[in-house]
Amino acid sequence: MAIDFKQDILAPVASDFAAMDTFINEGITSKVALVMAVSKHVVEAGGKRMRPIMCLLAAKACGSTDLEQHRKLAAIIEMLHTATLVHDDVVDESGLRRGRPTANATWNNQTAVLVGDFLISRAFDLLVDLNDMVLLKDFSTGTCEIAEGEVLQLQSQHDPETTEQTYLNIIHGKTSRLFELATEGAAILSGTPEYREPLRHFAGHFGNAFQIIDDILDYTSDAETLGKNIGDDLMEGKPTLPLISALQHTQGEEHDIVRRSIATGGIHQLEQVIQIVQQSGALDYCRKRAEEETQAALAALQHLPESEARQALFNLTQLALHRIQ
Ligand code: IPE
Ligand code: IPE
Ligand code: MG
Ligand code: MG
Repeated sequence: MAIDFKQDILAPVASDFAAMDTFINEGITSKVALVMAVSKHVVEAGGKRMRPIMCLLAAKACGSTDLEQHRKLAAIIEMLHTATLVHDDVVDESGLRRGRPTANATWNNQTAVLVGDFLISRAFDLLVDLNDMVLLKDFSTGTCEIAEGEVLQLQSQHDPETTEQTYLNIIHGKTSRLFELATEGAAILSGTPEYREPLRHFAGHFGNAFQIIDDILDYTSDAETLGKNIGDDLMEGKPTLPLISALQHTQGEEHDIVRRSIATGGIHQLEQVIQIVQQSGALDYCRKRAEEETQAALAALQHLPESEARQALFNLTQLALHRIQ
């Protein structure tokens, strides 16, 4: 049976989720008009709100009933996520995000970088108010690792020798780490440190699956569905799993085309590369890896007591595997 987002995932935290969304908007306040304009442009465009939902569900799964603090944490996480997207679009020279022109395209790189900095600083400003040193330390360390993931990716740009292990290190940093903070942070605030590790493992594998799917979609989707342009990864010469795997599944001319595309970047051979990626078995391999990561995530969840919220996390993981946007 198909998973229904509202009923099968959001239901246990529906009212907290609505309050959290208000908190994101109220949390972004600045005396500087440009800061407000840019922040609102990105935040109001929406997004799937995966990380805050996961944070709230994790809190319930840890046994918390009053989620007042968790709502703030969830909003802080979405703010951090939004900041990384604003910065990411500068680095990737992307023009479309959440169906809107990016901040860098609407204003310029300077503005996007500085407002991204503001959003990170504001997120930590709000985090301090939660008055939990363990949580603060976890987030400080974690955000350093997110930045490292992005830089590691930069270091591998245009390198056709990039291995699957390096790719995993990159995506763990840039993507999975924030999912880990969302769920582990929930366990810390709930006063249930015994659930930190299983939730971290759950979210880490979930994040890996999520990013692998995202990297597949960059070759198979379209801008209208995705809300961002496809082919961006190839344009930047990013050795994502579809290409790493395509190199392993091809020889001769096809192999050379993929190798050259990574080395030089650009989308003049996008059609050909898409065809190679699809026909060589590379995408099948990526889907298999995403499924394995999903299974590992679900196995980690079993270490939490059975509950409606745990089931919702389970459903969210299944839904993410089959997402199209
Ligand atoms: C985009 O994250 C960045 C990746 C980790 C792939 P999302 O796909 O969660 O972006 P929004 O928040 O829904 O726009
Ligand atoms: C995801 O990186 C952004 C972060 C996790 C910071 P990507 O560059 O792969 O994602 P999209 O495709 O722009 O969303
Ligand atoms: Mg990027
Ligand atoms: Mg990007």
